[in-house]
Amino acid sequence: MTDTKTVQQDFQERANRVLAGGVTSNTRLLNPHLIVERGSGSRLFDVDGREYIDFLLGQGPNFLGYAPPRVVAKLAEAQKDGVIFAATHRREVEAAERILAIFPWAETLRFGSSSSEMVQAALRIARQNTGRKYILRFHGHYHGWFDNIQIRSEDGKAGVGSLGQVPEALEQVITINWNDTEEFLRTLRERGHEIAGVIMEPIMLNSGAIEPRPGYLEAVRQACSDNGSVLIFDETISGFRLGLSGASGRFGVSPDLAVYGKAMAAGWPCAALIGKRELFAEVATGRLTHAGTFNGNVVATAAVLAALDELESGEVYKKVEAVGGELIDGIRALIAKYDLPMRVQGLPMAFHLRFDSSDDEITSYEQIQALESGRYSDFAQHLIELGVWVAYRGIWYVSAAHTSEDVAETLARIEPAFKALADS
Ligand SMILES: Cc1ncc(COP(=O)(O)O)c(C=O)c1O
Repeated sequence: MTDTKTVQQDFQERANRVLAGGVTSNTRLLNPHLIVERGSGSRLFDVDGREYIDFLLGQGPNFLGYAPPRVVAKLAEAQKDGVIFAATHRREVEAAERILAIFPWAETLRFGSSSSEMVQAALRIARQNTGRKYILRFHGHYHGWFDNIQIRSEDGKAGVGSLGQVPEALEQVITINWNDTEEFLRTLRERGHEIAGVIMEPIMLNSGAIEPRPGYLEAVRQACSDNGSVLIFDETISGFRLGLSGASGRFGVSPDLAVYGKAMAAGWPCAALIGKRELFAEVATGRLTHAGTFNGNVVATAAVLAALDELESGEVYKKVEAVGGELIDGIRALIAKYDLPMRVQGLPMAFHLRFDSSDDEITSYEQIQALESGRYSDFAQHLIELGVWVAYRGIWYVSAAHTSEDVAETLARIEPAFKALADS
Protein backbone atom coordinates (compact mmCIF):
# COMPACT_ATOMS: atom_id res chain seq x y z
CA MET A 1 0.00 0.00 0.00
CA THR A 2 1.41 3.45 -0.91
CA ASP A 3 1.20 6.28 1.62
CA THR A 4 -1.41 8.14 -0.38
CA LYS A 5 -3.85 5.25 -0.58
CA THR A 6 -6.62 5.03 1.99
CA VAL A 7 -7.40 1.70 3.62
CA GLN A 8 -10.66 1.75 1.68
CA GLN A 9 -8.92 2.24 -1.67
CA ASP A 10 -6.54 -0.59 -0.87
CA PHE A 11 -9.45 -2.90 -0.01
CA GLN A 12 -11.34 -1.79 -3.10
CA GLU A 13 -8.43 -2.81 -5.29
CA ARG A 14 -8.11 -6.11 -3.48
CA ALA A 15 -11.88 -6.66 -3.69
CA ASN A 16 -11.80 -6.03 -7.41
CA ARG A 17 -9.09 -8.65 -7.81
CA VAL A 18 -10.78 -11.43 -5.83
CA LEU A 19 -14.53 -10.77 -6.03
CA ALA A 20 -16.20 -10.44 -9.44
CA GLY A 21 -16.92 -6.74 -9.76
CA GLY A 22 -15.61 -6.26 -6.23
CA VAL A 23 -18.89 -7.50 -4.70
CA THR A 24 -20.81 -10.71 -3.99
CA SER A 25 -24.28 -9.53 -5.07
CA ASN A 26 -25.00 -7.50 -8.20
CA THR A 27 -27.38 -5.26 -6.24
CA ARG A 28 -24.26 -3.88 -4.56
CA LEU A 29 -22.89 -2.76 -7.92
CA LEU A 30 -25.69 -0.19 -7.96
CA ASN A 31 -24.14 1.84 -5.14
CA PRO A 32 -20.58 3.12 -4.80
CA HIS A 33 -18.02 0.71 -3.64
CA LEU A 34 -17.98 1.08 0.14
CA ILE A 35 -15.81 -1.29 2.17
CA VAL A 36 -17.49 -1.66 5.54
CA GLU A 37 -15.67 -2.40 8.77
CA ARG A 38 -18.78 -2.81 10.93
CA GLY A 39 -22.28 -1.64 11.71
CA SER A 40 -23.69 -0.64 15.06
CA GLY A 41 -27.26 0.48 15.75
CA SER A 42 -28.14 3.11 13.13
CA ARG A 43 -24.54 3.60 11.98
CA LEU A 44 -22.13 2.07 9.51
CA PHE A 45 -18.35 2.51 9.72
CA ASP A 46 -16.07 2.04 6.73
CA VAL A 47 -12.53 0.70 6.94
CA ASP A 48 -11.15 4.25 7.12
CA GLY A 49 -13.27 4.85 10.22
CA ARG A 50 -15.76 7.10 8.39
CA GLU A 51 -19.19 6.91 9.90
CA TYR A 52 -22.53 6.99 8.06
CA ILE A 53 -26.09 7.21 9.33
CA ASP A 54 -27.60 4.27 7.53
CA PHE A 55 -30.97 4.20 5.77
CA LEU A 56 -30.34 1.19 3.57
CA LEU A 57 -30.26 -1.43 6.36
CA GLY A 58 -28.32 -3.90 4.21
CA GLN A 59 -31.18 -3.74 1.61
CA GLY A 60 -33.74 -4.00 4.40
CA PRO A 61 -32.94 -6.86 6.80
CA ASN A 62 -31.42 -4.82 9.66
CA PHE A 63 -34.80 -3.60 10.85
CA LEU A 64 -33.62 -3.70 14.48
CA GLY A 65 -30.40 -1.86 13.61
CA TYR A 66 -26.93 -3.37 13.26
CA ALA A 67 -25.90 -6.00 15.80
CA PRO A 68 -28.85 -5.47 18.16
CA PRO A 69 -27.32 -6.50 21.52
CA ARG A 70 -30.11 -8.77 22.81
CA VAL A 71 -30.31 -10.62 19.49
CA VAL A 72 -26.53 -10.99 19.30
CA ALA A 73 -26.41 -12.42 22.84
CA LYS A 74 -29.12 -15.01 22.08
CA LEU A 75 -27.36 -16.06 18.88
CA ALA A 76 -24.01 -16.42 20.57
CA GLU A 77 -25.66 -18.77 23.05
CA ALA A 78 -27.61 -20.68 20.39
CA GLN A 79 -24.68 -21.51 18.16
CA LYS A 80 -22.93 -23.33 20.97
CA ASP A 81 -25.50 -26.07 20.27
CA GLY A 82 -24.23 -26.63 16.73
CA VAL A 83 -25.75 -25.20 13.59
CA ILE A 84 -27.15 -27.89 11.30
CA PHE A 85 -28.05 -31.52 11.95
CA ALA A 86 -29.81 -33.04 8.91
CA ALA A 87 -32.73 -33.36 11.30
CA THR A 88 -35.35 -31.03 12.72
CA HIS A 89 -34.23 -29.21 15.86
CA ARG A 90 -36.08 -27.56 18.70
CA ARG A 91 -35.67 -23.95 17.57
CA GLU A 92 -37.04 -24.70 14.10
CA VAL A 93 -40.29 -25.91 15.61
CA GLU A 94 -40.48 -23.01 18.03
CA ALA A 95 -39.77 -20.41 15.34
CA ALA A 96 -42.40 -21.95 13.03
CA GLU A 97 -44.99 -21.94 15.83
CA ARG A 98 -44.26 -18.32 16.67
CA ILE A 99 -44.51 -17.21 13.02
CA LEU A 100 -47.73 -19.11 12.35
CA ALA A 101 -49.32 -17.68 15.49
CA ILE A 102 -49.04 -14.26 13.81
CA PHE A 103 -50.83 -15.30 10.61
CA PRO A 104 -54.19 -16.95 11.33
CA TRP A 105 -54.73 -17.75 7.64
CA ALA A 106 -51.60 -19.94 7.44
CA GLU A 107 -51.10 -23.41 8.91
CA THR A 108 -47.65 -24.59 7.95
CA LEU A 109 -44.31 -23.40 6.64
CA ARG A 110 -40.88 -24.23 5.30
CA PHE A 111 -37.69 -22.29 6.05
CA GLY A 112 -34.93 -21.47 3.56
CA SER A 113 -31.93 -19.18 3.41
CA SER A 114 -33.15 -16.62 0.87
CA SER A 115 -36.42 -15.31 -0.50
CA SER A 116 -35.35 -16.15 -4.05
CA GLU A 117 -35.48 -19.81 -3.04
CA MET A 118 -38.78 -19.53 -1.22
CA VAL A 119 -40.34 -17.93 -4.31
CA GLN A 120 -39.23 -21.00 -6.29
CA ALA A 121 -40.94 -23.27 -3.79
CA ALA A 122 -44.09 -21.16 -4.01
CA LEU A 123 -44.20 -21.35 -7.83
CA ARG A 124 -43.70 -25.11 -7.75
CA ILE A 125 -46.44 -25.56 -5.15
CA ALA A 126 -48.85 -23.39 -7.14
CA ARG A 127 -48.22 -25.36 -10.33
CA GLN A 128 -48.49 -28.76 -8.65
CA ASN A 129 -51.70 -27.93 -6.82
CA THR A 130 -53.51 -26.51 -9.83
CA GLY A 131 -52.09 -28.66 -12.62
CA ARG A 132 -51.61 -25.39 -14.53
CA LYS A 133 -48.38 -23.89 -15.85
CA TYR A 134 -48.63 -20.12 -15.97
CA ILE A 135 -47.63 -17.60 -13.32
CA LEU A 136 -49.10 -14.11 -13.44
CA ARG A 137 -46.76 -11.39 -12.18
CA PHE A 138 -46.37 -7.62 -12.40
CA HIS A 139 -44.04 -5.08 -13.97
CA GLY A 140 -41.67 -3.49 -11.43
CA HIS A 141 -42.03 -6.24 -8.82
CA TYR A 142 -38.95 -8.30 -7.96
CA HIS A 143 -39.08 -11.93 -6.89
CA GLY A 144 -35.43 -12.96 -6.96
CA TRP A 145 -32.86 -13.58 -9.63
CA PHE A 146 -33.74 -17.07 -10.91
CA ASP A 147 -34.34 -17.75 -14.60
CA ASN A 148 -38.08 -18.45 -14.40
CA ILE A 149 -39.01 -15.18 -12.67
CA GLN A 150 -36.42 -12.43 -13.21
CA ILE A 151 -37.61 -9.90 -15.77
CA ARG A 152 -36.72 -6.49 -17.09
CA SER A 153 -39.61 -4.31 -18.19
CA GLU A 154 -39.33 -1.79 -20.96
CA ASP A 155 -42.13 -0.03 -22.83
CA GLY A 156 -44.71 -2.16 -21.06
CA LYS A 157 -43.04 -5.42 -22.15
CA ALA A 158 -41.17 -7.90 -19.98
CA GLY A 159 -38.00 -9.59 -21.24
CA VAL A 160 -35.13 -11.48 -19.68
CA GLY A 161 -33.53 -9.65 -16.81
CA SER A 162 -30.01 -10.98 -17.22
CA LEU A 163 -27.40 -12.14 -19.67
CA GLY A 164 -27.24 -15.91 -19.73
CA GLN A 165 -30.89 -16.29 -18.82
CA VAL A 166 -32.81 -18.60 -21.15
CA PRO A 167 -35.79 -16.70 -22.58
CA GLU A 168 -37.77 -19.97 -22.65
CA ALA A 169 -37.68 -19.99 -18.84
CA LEU A 170 -40.09 -17.06 -18.92
CA GLU A 171 -42.49 -18.61 -21.42
CA GLN A 172 -44.88 -19.59 -18.64
CA VAL A 173 -44.89 -16.15 -17.05
CA ILE A 174 -47.45 -13.48 -17.91
CA THR A 175 -46.55 -9.94 -16.84
CA ILE A 176 -49.13 -7.18 -16.46
CA ASN A 177 -49.45 -3.81 -14.70
CA TRP A 178 -50.03 -3.86 -10.96
CA ASN A 179 -52.74 -1.85 -9.19
CA ASP A 180 -55.04 -1.99 -12.24
CA THR A 181 -58.10 -4.05 -11.29
CA GLU A 182 -59.55 -3.98 -14.76
CA GLU A 183 -56.41 -5.34 -16.43
CA PHE A 184 -56.13 -8.03 -13.76
CA LEU A 185 -59.72 -9.22 -14.14
CA ARG A 186 -59.47 -9.12 -17.94
CA THR A 187 -56.29 -11.24 -17.87
CA LEU A 188 -57.94 -13.77 -15.59
CA ARG A 189 -61.02 -13.88 -17.83
CA GLU A 190 -58.89 -14.53 -20.91
CA ARG A 191 -56.16 -16.79 -19.50
CA GLY A 192 -57.45 -17.85 -16.10
CA HIS A 193 -57.77 -21.52 -17.05
CA GLU A 194 -53.97 -21.75 -17.42
CA ILE A 195 -52.91 -19.50 -14.49
CA ALA A 196 -51.56 -21.55 -11.58
CA GLY A 197 -50.50 -18.68 -9.39
CA VAL A 198 -50.44 -14.92 -9.05
CA ILE A 199 -47.36 -13.48 -7.35
CA MET A 200 -47.02 -9.88 -6.21
CA GLU A 201 -45.49 -7.52 -3.71
CA PRO A 202 -48.74 -6.55 -1.94
CA ILE A 203 -47.28 -3.08 -1.55
CA MET A 204 -44.83 -2.22 -4.30
CA LEU A 205 -41.56 -1.38 -2.57
CA ASN A 206 -38.81 -2.50 -4.91
CA SER A 207 -39.47 0.04 -7.61
CA GLY A 208 -41.19 2.81 -5.67
CA ALA A 209 -43.32 2.87 -2.54
CA ILE A 210 -46.77 2.37 -4.02
CA GLU A 211 -49.67 1.25 -1.87
CA PRO A 212 -52.43 -0.88 -3.37
CA ARG A 213 -55.41 1.17 -4.50
CA PRO A 214 -58.45 0.74 -2.23
CA GLY A 215 -60.18 -2.48 -3.19
CA TYR A 216 -57.38 -3.76 -5.45
CA LEU A 217 -56.07 -6.53 -3.20
CA GLU A 218 -59.62 -7.55 -2.30
CA ALA A 219 -60.54 -7.83 -5.98
CA VAL A 220 -57.41 -9.88 -6.72
CA ARG A 221 -58.11 -12.13 -3.74
CA GLN A 222 -61.68 -12.80 -4.82
CA ALA A 223 -60.77 -13.39 -8.46
CA CYS A 224 -57.98 -15.83 -7.52
CA SER A 225 -60.39 -17.78 -5.31
CA ASP A 226 -63.04 -17.85 -8.04
CA ASN A 227 -60.47 -18.95 -10.61
CA GLY A 228 -58.69 -21.50 -8.44
CA SER A 229 -55.33 -19.71 -8.79
CA VAL A 230 -52.94 -19.64 -5.85
CA LEU A 231 -52.40 -16.10 -4.57
CA ILE A 232 -48.80 -15.58 -3.43
CA PHE A 233 -47.79 -12.46 -1.52
CA ASP A 234 -44.07 -11.81 -1.70
CA GLU A 235 -43.62 -9.98 1.59
CA THR A 236 -39.84 -10.10 1.55
CA ILE A 237 -39.65 -6.34 2.13
CA SER A 238 -43.06 -5.61 3.66
CA GLY A 239 -43.12 -8.60 6.03
CA PHE A 240 -42.48 -7.89 9.72
CA ARG A 241 -41.76 -4.27 8.69
CA LEU A 242 -45.16 -2.71 7.97
CA GLY A 243 -46.26 -4.25 11.25
CA LEU A 244 -45.90 -7.71 12.77
CA SER A 245 -48.28 -9.18 10.19
CA GLY A 246 -46.81 -7.23 7.26
CA ALA A 247 -48.89 -6.05 4.33
CA SER A 248 -51.47 -8.83 4.60
CA GLY A 249 -52.25 -7.66 8.13
CA ARG A 250 -52.07 -3.97 7.32
CA PHE A 251 -54.39 -4.20 4.33
CA GLY A 252 -56.54 -7.02 5.72
CA VAL A 253 -56.19 -9.38 2.75
CA SER A 254 -54.83 -12.91 3.15
CA PRO A 255 -53.01 -14.79 0.38
CA ASP A 256 -52.74 -18.58 0.01
CA LEU A 257 -48.95 -18.53 0.29
CA ALA A 258 -46.55 -15.83 1.48
CA VAL A 259 -42.79 -15.37 1.36
CA TYR A 260 -40.93 -13.68 4.23
CA GLY A 261 -37.27 -12.84 4.72
CA LYS A 262 -35.24 -9.73 5.51
CA ALA A 263 -36.75 -8.14 8.69
CA MET A 264 -38.00 -11.52 9.95
CA ALA A 265 -34.52 -12.51 11.21
CA ALA A 266 -33.05 -9.12 12.15
CA GLY A 267 -30.34 -9.31 9.48
CA TRP A 268 -29.39 -12.98 9.72
CA PRO A 269 -30.07 -15.09 6.62
CA CYS A 270 -33.45 -16.76 6.96
CA ALA A 271 -36.55 -16.84 4.76
CA ALA A 272 -39.87 -18.64 5.02
CA LEU A 273 -42.72 -19.76 2.82
CA ILE A 274 -45.93 -19.99 4.82
CA GLY A 275 -49.38 -21.07 3.73
CA LYS A 276 -52.36 -23.31 3.85
CA ARG A 277 -51.62 -26.90 4.87
CA GLU A 278 -53.41 -28.48 1.92
CA LEU A 279 -51.13 -26.65 -0.52
CA PHE A 280 -48.07 -28.21 1.16
CA ALA A 281 -49.46 -31.76 1.08
CA GLU A 282 -47.01 -33.03 -1.55
CA VAL A 283 -44.13 -31.11 0.04
CA ALA A 284 -44.91 -33.12 3.15
CA THR A 285 -44.90 -36.44 1.24
CA GLY A 286 -41.59 -35.49 -0.38
CA ARG A 287 -42.93 -35.87 -3.93
CA LEU A 288 -42.67 -32.12 -4.43
CA THR A 289 -39.04 -31.26 -3.80
CA HIS A 290 -38.10 -28.47 -1.48
CA ALA A 291 -34.59 -28.86 -0.09
CA GLY A 292 -31.58 -26.95 1.16
CA THR A 293 -28.63 -27.95 3.33
CA PHE A 294 -28.80 -24.84 5.49
CA ASN A 295 -32.60 -24.51 5.72
CA GLY A 296 -33.86 -23.69 9.19
CA ASN A 297 -30.41 -23.85 10.77
CA VAL A 298 -29.90 -23.00 14.44
CA VAL A 299 -28.51 -19.52 13.85
CA ALA A 300 -31.26 -18.58 11.38
CA THR A 301 -34.10 -19.79 13.55
CA ALA A 302 -32.57 -18.43 16.76
CA ALA A 303 -32.42 -15.09 14.92
CA VAL A 304 -36.12 -15.38 14.06
CA LEU A 305 -36.96 -16.13 17.70
CA ALA A 306 -34.80 -13.28 18.97
CA ALA A 307 -36.25 -10.87 16.39
CA LEU A 308 -39.80 -11.87 17.34
CA ASP A 309 -38.98 -11.28 21.02
CA GLU A 310 -38.36 -7.65 20.04
CA LEU A 311 -41.07 -7.24 17.40
CA GLU A 312 -43.95 -8.84 19.28
CA SER A 313 -44.01 -6.15 21.96
CA GLY A 314 -45.27 -3.67 19.34
CA GLU A 315 -43.01 -0.91 20.71
CA VAL A 316 -40.67 -1.29 17.76
CA TYR A 317 -43.41 -0.45 15.28
CA LYS A 318 -44.60 2.57 17.26
CA LYS A 319 -41.05 3.87 17.39
CA VAL A 320 -40.31 3.29 13.69
CA GLU A 321 -43.62 4.95 12.71
CA ALA A 322 -42.77 7.99 14.83
CA VAL A 323 -39.10 8.36 13.87
CA GLY A 324 -39.73 7.55 10.19
CA GLY A 325 -42.54 10.09 10.20
CA GLU A 326 -40.18 12.75 11.56
CA LEU A 327 -37.68 11.94 8.84
CA ILE A 328 -40.29 12.18 6.09
CA ASP A 329 -41.56 15.51 7.48
CA GLY A 330 -37.99 16.82 7.71
CA ILE A 331 -37.14 15.84 4.12
CA ARG A 332 -40.40 17.37 2.89
CA ALA A 333 -39.53 20.59 4.75
CA LEU A 334 -36.14 20.70 2.97
CA ILE A 335 -37.82 20.10 -0.38
CA ALA A 336 -40.21 23.00 0.36
CA LYS A 337 -37.48 25.27 1.74
CA TYR A 338 -35.39 24.95 -1.43
CA ASP A 339 -38.41 24.68 -3.72
CA LEU A 340 -37.18 21.50 -5.40
CA PRO A 341 -39.06 19.22 -7.81
CA MET A 342 -38.80 16.26 -5.45
CA ARG A 343 -41.25 14.07 -3.65
CA VAL A 344 -41.38 11.60 -0.79
CA GLN A 345 -43.90 8.80 -1.10
CA GLY A 346 -44.45 5.81 1.12
CA LEU A 347 -44.61 4.76 4.75
CA PRO A 348 -42.40 5.76 7.69
CA MET A 349 -40.59 2.40 7.66
CA ALA A 350 -39.94 2.38 3.89
CA PHE A 351 -40.35 5.32 1.56
CA HIS A 352 -39.02 6.57 -1.73
CA LEU A 353 -37.47 9.93 -2.46
CA ARG A 354 -37.59 10.95 -6.12
CA PHE A 355 -37.28 13.80 -8.53
CA ASP A 356 -40.81 14.46 -9.64
CA SER A 357 -42.36 17.82 -10.38
CA SER A 358 -45.96 16.68 -10.84
CA ASP A 359 -48.48 16.71 -8.01
CA ASP A 360 -50.10 13.45 -9.11
CA GLU A 361 -49.85 10.57 -6.71
CA ILE A 362 -47.73 7.78 -8.15
CA THR A 363 -49.84 4.65 -8.44
CA SER A 364 -48.11 2.74 -11.24
CA TYR A 365 -44.72 1.46 -12.32
CA GLU A 366 -45.16 3.32 -15.64
CA GLN A 367 -45.13 6.64 -13.77
CA ILE A 368 -41.98 5.62 -11.92
CA GLN A 369 -40.19 4.70 -15.12
CA ALA A 370 -40.85 8.20 -16.44
CA LEU A 371 -39.00 9.82 -13.48
CA GLU A 372 -35.41 11.02 -13.61
CA SER A 373 -33.61 8.15 -11.87
CA GLY A 374 -30.12 9.23 -13.06
CA ARG A 375 -30.54 12.58 -11.37
CA TYR A 376 -31.48 10.83 -8.13
CA SER A 377 -28.34 8.64 -8.25
CA ASP A 378 -26.19 11.78 -8.41
CA PHE A 379 -28.13 13.23 -5.48
CA ALA A 380 -27.77 9.99 -3.48
CA GLN A 381 -24.03 10.08 -4.16
CA HIS A 382 -23.94 13.55 -2.61
CA LEU A 383 -25.86 12.30 0.46
CA ILE A 384 -23.35 9.47 0.89
CA GLU A 385 -20.48 11.97 0.71
CA LEU A 386 -22.26 13.90 3.47
CA GLY A 387 -22.32 10.79 5.68
CA VAL A 388 -25.79 9.36 5.02
CA TRP A 389 -25.83 5.89 3.47
CA VAL A 390 -28.80 5.49 1.12
CA ALA A 391 -29.71 3.44 -1.94
CA TYR A 392 -29.17 4.92 -5.39
CA ARG A 393 -32.60 3.64 -6.41
CA GLY A 394 -34.51 5.92 -4.05
CA ILE A 395 -35.69 3.70 -1.22
CA TRP A 396 -35.06 4.73 2.40
CA TYR A 397 -35.53 2.22 5.22
CA VAL A 398 -35.93 3.26 8.86
CA SER A 399 -34.98 0.87 11.67
CA ALA A 400 -35.87 0.53 15.33
CA ALA A 401 -32.36 1.76 16.13
CA HIS A 402 -32.98 5.19 14.57
CA THR A 403 -33.83 7.95 17.02
CA SER A 404 -35.17 11.49 16.79
CA GLU A 405 -31.57 12.63 17.35
CA ASP A 406 -30.47 10.59 14.34
CA VAL A 407 -33.16 12.27 12.28
CA ALA A 408 -32.07 15.75 13.35
CA GLU A 409 -28.45 14.88 12.59
CA THR A 410 -29.39 13.38 9.23
CA LEU A 411 -31.35 16.46 8.20
CA ALA A 412 -28.43 18.70 9.19
CA ARG A 413 -26.00 16.51 7.24
CA ILE A 414 -28.10 16.36 4.07
CA GLU A 415 -29.31 19.97 3.90
CA PRO A 416 -26.23 21.06 1.85
CA ALA A 417 -27.24 18.58 -0.87
CA PHE A 418 -30.67 20.19 -1.17
CA LYS A 419 -29.11 23.66 -1.14
CA ALA A 420 -26.62 22.64 -3.84
CA LEU A 421 -29.49 21.50 -6.04
CA ALA A 422 -31.31 24.77 -5.55
CA ASP A 423 -28.13 26.73 -6.36
CA SER A 424 -27.32 24.73 -9.47
C1 LIG B 1 -39.91 -8.69 -2.92
C2 LIG B 1 -38.64 -9.50 -2.98
N1 LIG B 1 -38.71 -10.80 -3.28
C3 LIG B 1 -37.63 -11.57 -3.34
C4 LIG B 1 -36.38 -11.04 -3.11
C5 LIG B 1 -35.17 -11.93 -3.18
O1 LIG B 1 -34.70 -12.11 -1.89
P1 LIG B 1 -33.26 -12.72 -1.59
O2 LIG B 1 -32.30 -11.65 -1.98
O3 LIG B 1 -33.30 -13.03 -0.13
O4 LIG B 1 -33.11 -13.94 -2.41
C6 LIG B 1 -36.25 -9.70 -2.79
C7 LIG B 1 -34.93 -9.10 -2.54
O5 LIG B 1 -34.77 -7.92 -2.39
C8 LIG B 1 -37.42 -8.89 -2.73
O6 LIG B 1 -37.35 -7.59 -2.45
